[in-house]
Amino acid sequence: MATERIVSSAPIETSPIDEQVNWSLRPTRMLEYVGQSELLAKLSIAIAAAKGRTEPMEHLLLHGPPGLGKTTLAHVVAAEMGRRVQITSGPALSKGTDLVSVLTRLEAGDVLFIDEIHRLPIAVEEFVYPAMEDYRIDVPVDSGLHARTVQISLQPFTLIGATTRAGLVSAPMRSRFGITHHLRFYTTAELLEILVRSSTLLGLTIADDTGLPIIAARARGTPRIANRLLRRVRDFAQVHNNGAVTRRVVEQALEMEGVDAMGLDELDRSYLRIIGTTYTGGPVGLEAVAATMNEDAGTLEAVVEPYLLQLGFIARMRRGRMLTAAGAKHVNVPPPVQASANLFDEP
Ligand SMILES: Nc1ncnc2c1ncn2[C@@H]1O[C@H](COP(=O)(O)OP(=O)(O)O)[C@@H](O)[C@H]1O
Ligand SMILES: [Mg+2]
Repeated sequence: MATERIVSSAPIETSPIDEQVNWSLRPTRMLEYVGQSELLAKLSIAIAAAKGRTEPMEHLLLHGPPGLGKTTLAHVVAAEMGRRVQITSGPALSKGTDLVSVLTRLEAGDVLFIDEIHRLPIAVEEFVYPAMEDYRIDVPVDSGLHARTVQISLQPFTLIGATTRAGLVSAPMRSRFGITHHLRFYTTAELLEILVRSSTLLGLTIADDTGLPIIAARARGTPRIANRLLRRVRDFAQVHNNGAVTRRVVEQALEMEGVDAMGLDELDRSYLRIIGTTYTGGPVGLEAVAATMNEDAGTLEAVVEPYLLQLGFIARMRRGRMLTAAGAKHVNVPPPVQASANLFDEP
């Protein structure tokens, strides 16, 4: 199974310190939220309009790889609306009634955030639909002969759903969101802005201005990774350089973590190597690669592949994954033989 990765964009569930620092670095208002400008533009209008009508904001579905700011945004939206946010997640809910107490506690305009919404069981999905559409729920009472349901009305609220696997959100669920948005990877400039802010919040001594750009360039377009690398750099600087962050300290710290110049780590590289060698460049099905690596296919798809696709190191086709010439070069394996012929047989 997956070992802990420094460049993993998934939260480290086992590390309370990690989460704590994450919280302290999390932007709370729109002004502090870096990047995703198209989304913020859409949301500012939706929020202003909703406030003008004293209605909740429309339901919002956010999808994109982990660590790009979906949870953060749910908090930001609630703060901008001047309301509270309640948090739950797909895997935490097994039956519709698990949601009753959360839903009935919501006050007008509050935000309900459901993380990993693609993992909601069907029964819960169906329970949620009337809540989303008409702000009511049908709660079953009694059972057997006397089974019946009681209708409870809710305060109008905003559902914000987040998912790393957009393709797994059911069509009926998807159609109930007023706004759907795919979060994109951040530019190096945006990540640098985030790192500068985080450094200030963490009280770091930045001794020269060439260090942070290196972290930004190796953070795989992902704020959570940028912040995590920054914390490793901070530790390294503290132990080896009296706390001063310099270019050299950054390079040494990242090298020690196995993060290469493109921000890839051993897991990414072994994924590329396996396609390149065991499967002679592909195309190969994700399941086969996952089995060879002894990794979970879903994890590879959500966490490893998006950035490799973004870099153009792999191509995803009908018949599976394929290593590109650039990807092969990065891990020093022979360039795939039939790469060019079928590279674009899927949009
Ligand atoms: N737009 C942003 N601006 C600044 N920091 C961000 C932004 N998006 C995310 N972050 C940082 O990255 C961390 C992870 O973001 P999070 O919202 O938990 O990602 P996701 O829910 O998409 O996995 C946050 O704690 C925050 O510090
Ligand atoms: Mg999240």
